[in-house]
Amino acid sequence: MYAHIQSLDYKFHNNVDTGDLIQRVTTDIETVTNFLTKRMLDFIYLIVTLYFGAYQLLKLNPTMVWVSFGILPLIGLASIIYFKKIDKLFINIEEIEAKMVTVVQENLSGLKVVRAFANEKFELSKMEDKNRAHADALIKANKIIALYWGSMDALSITQYLLIIAIAIYAVKNGTMDAASVAAALQLVGMLIWPIRGLGRLINDFGKSLVSSDRLNEIYDKKSEFDDDGTKEINIRGDIEFKNVSFGFEDSKTSLLKDVSFKINAGETVAIIGRTGSGKSTIIHLLMRMYEYQNGEILIDQHPLKTLKKKNVRSQMGVVLQEPFLYSKTVFENIAITNKKINNERVRQAATIAALQKDIDTFKQGYQTVVGEKGTTLSGGQKQRVAIARILVQDHPVLIFDDALSAVDTQTDLMIRQALLEKNYQHTTIIITHRITTAKEADKIIVLNEGRVESIGTHDTLKNKDGLYRTLWNIQGKLEEEFEDMLKAGDQDAS
Ligand SMILES: Nc1ncnc2c1ncn2[C@@H]1O[C@H](COP(=O)(O)OP(=O)(O)O)[C@@H](O)[C@H]1O
Ligand SMILES: [Mg+2]
Repeated sequence: MYAHIQSLDYKFHNNVDTGDLIQRVTTDIETVTNFLTKRMLDFIYLIVTLYFGAYQLLKLNPTMVWVSFGILPLIGLASIIYFKKIDKLFINIEEIEAKMVTVVQENLSGLKVVRAFANEKFELSKMEDKNRAHADALIKANKIIALYWGSMDALSITQYLLIIAIAIYAVKNGTMDAASVAAALQLVGMLIWPIRGLGRLINDFGKSLVSSDRLNEIYDKKSEFDDDGTKEINIRGDIEFKNVSFGFEDSKTSLLKDVSFKINAGETVAIIGRTGSGKSTIIHLLMRMYEYQNGEILIDQHPLKTLKKKNVRSQMGVVLQEPFLYSKTVFENIAITNKKINNERVRQAATIAALQKDIDTFKQGYQTVVGEKGTTLSGGQKQRVAIARILVQDHPVLIFDDALSAVDTQTDLMIRQALLEKNYQHTTIIITHRITTAKEADKIIVLNEGRVESIGTHDTLKNKDGLYRTLWNIQGKLEEEFEDMLKAGDQDAS
């Protein structure tokens, strides 16, 4: 199940309720496992006891066998009615439990927000509501369970009394002696309790059916690798978008419209645009996280859809705006994609990512454990760990998706200059809304509301009417003056 979940596409993971998924992977799997292991054993035990018990009892007193088994249709009927009622309740309980897990999980991962808004009361009441609903659902189910088991027990005891009556009658008749009666009652016990146990079996079968349905819902989702390309290539780094259009399923309009551009291997290209203009989506399409609807994306002249997804993804080093760090050491977080890496290489990567100085200030250096999701690091530090992480491998394509947004402009500049000095050739795509980050690129692609507005260098674009010039007028001049000031300051100091 875990492997299958890993293989499901980005769309699934974007829309899934994590709590519900956790519930399925834990409780539901456990329910099915329990049934298959424990109850199946019970079932074998039950069949064997019934068989030998009935065989022996038939020799002593056949009527007692018929009375013992006579209850079976009743148990069958009661179980079916019970099962129909309880089934819906179990589904309901599972859903409520999933919601509770979600509430807890969201609360824990959003702890800072909850604290910052002093929202603990609301969070508690949210949990209390779910808890109450859970208790109510359980009580409702337990009422039905109690009724069912109560009547089952009453039936079994009636049955036993009936058999004792038969025994007394037989002894009076002289057809059975005391010893046979003692033996027969033992054997009847061997029949009645397993028959009653059938009810439990049916009950657990019901529960595990509910669970296995929930598991099948996930198994039925197609793996994203079912629809994969076949070719594997060593990417050089030519990337071309030809009239690519893309829209999300749940939105009526296309997000990207007729996007065309060409990036040559080894170039540094900036994609600049306002937030929401579709910059990250372009990267998602390039990594085949989503399927584009129209047009064609070519990597080294190969249509993207003919290439194996893993082949493409493993050769693109992507740094996301909100990087995910594991609760491991800084070293392990950098070396995550390449366990065999040596210290020297990690150090090199950290230096390029302007992280080395920060690490030097940590008491335990590279062995500093990053807290859950890296809470002990600042946003900028996290981004730089993520940058170092992709630099320890020689990816032919490097992509920075707003990856420098949380570092200051100076550090941003330092990182970009260090990148240029790296000794292997790679295509670099820098996505940004900050003009100073874009301006030295070989090529700047200006994205405006999902369309490529223009492509050019800083010098050509800043003299042309359009979004780039507007942005330049707002951000660029300020930053440039600021940088000049800083440089002047440095010179004074030296
Ligand atoms: N999974 C999704 N489903 C529907 N709309 C989405 C989804 N992801 C992003 N969007 C929308 O697509 C638009 C572009 O997103 P994005 O490519 O991330 O923009 P950018 O990176 O330029 O800020 C946004 O308006 C966003 O709301
Ligand atoms: Mg983005």
